[in-house]
Amino acid sequence: MSKNPQKDSPPGELPDALHVLRTRSVVRNYAPEPVDDSGIDQLLDAMLAAPSASNKQAWSFVVVRDPASVRRLRAFSPGIIGTPAFCVLACVDQNLTKHHSPSAAENIHATSKLCVAMAVENLLLAAHAVGLGGCPVHSFRKDAVGALLGLPEHIEPVLIVPIGRPASPPTPSERRDKKEVVSHEVWGNHSATTPAL
Ligand SMILES: Cc1cc2nc3c(=O)[nH]c(=O)nc-3n(C[C@H](O)[C@H](O)[C@H](O)COP(=O)(O)O)c2cc1C
Repeated sequence: MSKNPQKDSPPGELPDALHVLRTRSVVRNYAPEPVDDSGIDQLLDAMLAAPSASNKQAWSFVVVRDPASVRRLRAFSPGIIGTPAFCVLACVDQNLTKHHSPSAAENIHATSKLCVAMAVENLLLAAHAVGLGGCPVHSFRKDAVGALLGLPEHIEPVLIVPIGRPASPPTPSERRDKKEVVSHEVWGNHSATTPAL
């Protein structure tokens, strides 16, 4: 395990987008500060710009801002630690994952979950880019949250993302060593060489 030295590079030393990518970390405690409509809308636009398999966008999201609803969401979600300004529930829309072949349907469904995760990552990165922070939360009671937010049968909750102004500067978590997890050309070759072109 190592701290990624690049994560701490000051903004001017990396293109802005890479700096945002390398400095994001989860934020679980939030200042009691609301996020305005246009701020949320900006994040949603970034979220929906994520790639999706065959550009199917088999996803659906619920933004929860009402403080009483956020409190209820927290009650069913051990993974939400602090009190965020708002939450986004990220779901698969199973109406868009149907297929006459059961194995193909299963494959499309699994792929759609990956797409939802990509949208969530975009949301987290966009939040970080504008000085907010959040956490992907899988630990929540899907049935209770579904009932609370009126999800129809075909909308399957995958992740909740609480978002708000960080209560304190986020601390980057450790990463496994690049040499350990990245191979070059064939698995297990950990030294990068420039191929002759
Ligand atoms: C799919 C997924 C599910 C997660 N679920 C939870 C969760 O339920 N509760 C929580 O506190 N954090 C959750 N996390 C956040 C991880 O704990 C966090 O990303 C990890 O510790 C690495 O920290 P970093 O994102 O700051 O680098 C989840 C992350 C992912 C990718």
